Amino acid sequence: FHVIWNAEAAEKGGYEHFMLKEIHDQPKAVRDTFGTHISEDMSQALFSELNWEASDVDSIKNILIVACGTAYHAGLVTKKYIESLARIPVNVEIASEYRYSNPLTDSSTLCIVISQSGETSDTLAALKEAKRLGARSLAITNVVGSSISREADQTVYTWAGPEISVASTKAYTTQLVAGLLFAVYLGQLNGKLDAALAKDILIGIHELPELIHTIFEVDEDMKAFAKHYGFKTDAFFLGRSIDYAVAMEGALKLKEISYIHAEAYAGGELKHGTLALIEEGVPVIALATQEDVFDKMISNIREVKAREAVVIGIGMKGDEEIAKHVDHTIYIPRANKFIAPILAVVPLQLLAYYAAITRGADVDKPRNLAKSVTVE
Ligand code: G6P
Repeated sequence: FHVIWNAEAAEKGGYEHFMLKEIHDQPKAVRDTFGTHISEDMSQALFSELNWEASDVDSIKNILIVACGTAYHAGLVTKKYIESLARIPVNVEIASEYRYSNPLTDSSTLCIVISQSGETSDTLAALKEAKRLGARSLAITNVVGSSISREADQTVYTWAGPEISVASTKAYTTQLVAGLLFAVYLGQLNGKLDAALAKDILIGIHELPELIHTIFEVDEDMKAFAKHYGFKTDAFFLGRSIDYAVAMEGALKLKEISYIHAEAYAGGELKHGTLALIEEGVPVIALATQEDVFDKMISNIREVKAREAVVIGIGMKGDEEIAKHVDHTIYIPRANKFIAPILAVVPLQLLAYYAAITRGADVDKPRNLAKSVTVE
């Protein structure tokens, strides 16, 4: 009697690739990350590891977020969270740019570094530079005891568990959860956040695991789109506001594993150049989850449809309008606008995954890329 034991297959938990497993790990990863950060009555964001008081927040005049790759995209969303909920100005910088930019950081700056591995060389160097200039620092990382967690004054951990696939998925969604919780924490400490909105967001975070589960129902649709459009040479991702940051992450996912040239554009910026590239049959993925810019996004969708693009619209359940303007609609569950980006990225991850499969690419180990970039 022989048991053939394949350690890698076992680690993949029955999934064909680590990436697909990690996409499906997201409900648990998100639950483990919000963990003890929401009070029992869902009214307060808690960070016992930080233990800040109102005066800690008052001394912060500006926030700098530095990161690379997918973590940088999480930083772009976190900027929206902090500016909306705590009304503190936030700059987001690519770590390799920041470190050589002779920056204006000083002791009134809080530097937040976001890094899955906690080992990315440029991010670590940027953190050291911000500290040298007097900034207070906070790391959001997934690896306990990593170089970045040791260098930062304080650390908030994401609990995504090990992420093996080069293309980051569950690390990203957990970074958004940590960023959103931290923004609520800041807004509650400085009194800028309305109690009802805080509660709505915290309840929304609490519901995320179930909501993400329901999104897996779009798996077959994403597989079909990938079969249909997987051999196109270009794709465009459009969004406004928070959806623009999600569009950037969707484009990165698609290009890094399927090698389809993908670009993200802010809807309003289309007419300043990119519209020239839209012609018959070009796939456009249009995100329209943000109510305050919904009508504007519909206008952008009409602009690309008029040039005969094929449009996949991502909207919130109940928004009938979007379906009238696009070729295919994917609905995410209706949720608070700050929760929506954590849901909207999931179909984009699946689309990238199935596009890579369609093209026979090595999903977990894309060419020329590394999981952790510890050299400059
Ligand atoms: C590499 C990975 C990306 C990751 C980036 C930053 O490029 O392939 O998935 O987003 O590094 O990594 P970090 O560990 O700092 O989040």
